[in-house]
Amino acid sequence: MKKTLKDIDVKNKKVLVRVDYNVPLDANQNITNDKRIAATLPTIQYLLEQDAAIILMAHLGRPKGKAVPEMSLKPVAARLSELIGKPVKFVEGDCISDQAKKTAADLKSGEILLLENLRFYAAEEGKNAAGEKDKAAMDAFAKELASMGEVFVQDAFGTVHRAHASTAGIVKHVKDAAAGFLVEKELKFLGEALDKPVRPFLAILGGAKVSDKINVIENLLNKVDSIIIGGAMAYTFLKSQSVSIGASLVEDDKLDLAAELLKKAKEKGVEFLLPVDHVIADKVDFANKAVPAGAAVKVTVDEAIPEGFMGVDVGPESIERFAKAVKEAKTIVWNGPLGIFEIDQFSKGTVEIAKLAAQSTEQGATSVVGGGDSVSAVKKAGVDKKISHISTGGGASLEFLEGKELPGIAALPEKK
Ligand code: 3PG
Repeated sequence: MKKTLKDIDVKNKKVLVRVDYNVPLDANQNITNDKRIAATLPTIQYLLEQDAAIILMAHLGRPKGKAVPEMSLKPVAARLSELIGKPVKFVEGDCISDQAKKTAADLKSGEILLLENLRFYAAEEGKNAAGEKDKAAMDAFAKELASMGEVFVQDAFGTVHRAHASTAGIVKHVKDAAAGFLVEKELKFLGEALDKPVRPFLAILGGAKVSDKINVIENLLNKVDSIIIGGAMAYTFLKSQSVSIGASLVEDDKLDLAAELLKKAKEKGVEFLLPVDHVIADKVDFANKAVPAGAAVKVTVDEAIPEGFMGVDVGPESIERFAKAVKEAKTIVWNGPLGIFEIDQFSKGTVEIAKLAAQSTEQGATSVVGGGDSVSAVKKAGVDKKISHISTGGGASLEFLEGKELPGIAALPEKK
């Protein structure tokens, strides 16, 4: 068990907090979704109550070691200040400049400083200026960051799968370290779902590629009672069973693997639910996420998709079969949409399953949703408030479901 915030002394201390403020911005640098900022408020509030001086560290985008003004965290400082109702200091341009260090040194109890995008330095990601791996550069950068505070709090759940200077490297250079409240909550929900699930335990996996989810499926086959597969991934599984899939998206090089996973599920007694019918279309404008004028859209009678058509959503019969599993489940883990949910006409499968997951949750099940698209999908269905836990981590929650060690967690000290 790792130390958590209440296990360490932060009273009147200068506390470095790694947060995940990698939020979406529009072309004018307006934040279009501030959920990740809001999710860090409990930790910040607690630190304020403890009269700590708070130095927040974060990244935005992938500037690859260069100062990219469009990826500045300045708009984030302004939004955080609105959300917390207090000024948030921000030093533009460079997270470890003399001015940033002086602002950190002068920071008083109850004050907050957000450092500029850490990824303006290649060393944050363990590289040198030439883009080569460089552990010494990462360690030196971690040490510089650590020198600005006394203790470290890891609250960037969305970034804990990265072994970076500010996520893992920093820990050995501070007096004490712990997981913040957000990380603690994420680990509790995801961890309990995987390790102590109330049964039946159902996983719902969607998205385009089997290859993205192989490790998740393999790990979950040892834990769940049933798996629902939707999205384009389902067509690869169906083709592996010689079902015709027309012009649907498919990974032909993953057919053997898909067949192997189905076989494993059978051996382990895991119910593997694939769509038994589909919504299909003969044309889709994938770039604009739209149905082109004159496109033919219909529902198949069974699992086979005719030539010239591609699957775009699960069909009504499939929804009914899936609904039964969702209603019975007492633990639900969901990652990835079941169709092209961004197009209203093709969102029914995803939206219906989201509503059913919310209903099951109201009746006592625990539901955990992770991954950017599935989070947007539960929002689209209007049930995001009814899901037990919506993870702030895309890649991080997937790696957790794969059973991988997360470097940003592994680096933290154990509870005594
Ligand atoms: C995310 O948005 O998933 C995290 O902030 C990690 O970002 P990265 O994939 O660029 O490391």
